[in-house]
Amino acid sequence: MRKRVTKAIFPVAGLGTRFLPATKSIPKEIMTLVDRPLIQYAIDEAREAGIKEFIFVTARGKGALEDYFDSAPELEKSLRLKGKTDLLRELRRTDMDSGAIAYIRQREARGLGHAVYCARRLVAPNEPFAVLLPDDVIAGKVGCLKQMVDAYAETGGNMVAVMKVPRKQTSSYGVIDPGQKDGRVIEVKGMVEKPKAEDAPSNMAVIGRYILRPAIFQTLRRLPTGAGGEVQLTDAISAQIETDGVYGYNFAGQRFDCGSKAGYLQATVAFGLGREELHDELRGFLDTVTGVRHAAE
Ligand code: G1P
Repeated sequence: MRKRVTKAIFPVAGLGTRFLPATKSIPKEIMTLVDRPLIQYAIDEAREAGIKEFIFVTARGKGALEDYFDSAPELEKSLRLKGKTDLLRELRRTDMDSGAIAYIRQREARGLGHAVYCARRLVAPNEPFAVLLPDDVIAGKVGCLKQMVDAYAETGGNMVAVMKVPRKQTSSYGVIDPGQKDGRVIEVKGMVEKPKAEDAPSNMAVIGRYILRPAIFQTLRRLPTGAGGEVQLTDAISAQIETDGVYGYNFAGQRFDCGSKAGYLQATVAFGLGREELHDELRGFLDTVTGVRHAAE
């Protein structure tokens, strides 16, 4: 039987320069959509997929992330005394068993491939693992990683989430060269990191969810730098095509690029509208501002 995926790596070492000055003192993963930090969405998605162990690849200045997952006894006590059970329940979502969570420092910003490599000693030989990039927030009935884990039970190999993007955006993504399709699973014949539109093998972009085999660490160890002078995870995965196989998974769900301001704002609006207690007021406000804009045009 294929080994289940129960471990996940969250690369959270990025500087978040696009959100300065906010990210001068808070990690971008702590920025909130409505009332939950971005990282919480990734954790919830991972838990739904059966992940039990969480590895954070962090960097200097990310202390707030560690505190976020620590217990908060004073806060809990005060909520309990006030009978605020709803808030207590919300707070419990952030609970992490001691031992279920590990932090590794990436000492230099050398790229996503290098960040994943930093976690190599925490993954056993033969143990498949997931990677989730918290900037990519994916809304859907069934979480993206859960969909992938289910598909992976059939395919094995390595798997990357993919979605169609406009051609002119390929230079922001890893892009696959697609082969045969079987439902949502697509054979991957090649992968390129951030190709120009004219060089891209397709418009199927890699989104930040991966299921990988630990053989990737051997590749990462000797991988030369790639696009942008960084060690690219895409290049390492591409090198597994011949040996273990790589599949794209065209997930169902809506992805928000919370690494960009526009994507972050869109996600805020979408998740706000998704909340029953906020929906009507926010909808009314949006109708008013868009009405005002139309009138001004
Ligand atoms: C990273 C990956 C890229 C992927 C993207 C998805 O790029 O390197 O292959 O398509 O995430 O969000 P980054 O956005 O960190 O530049």
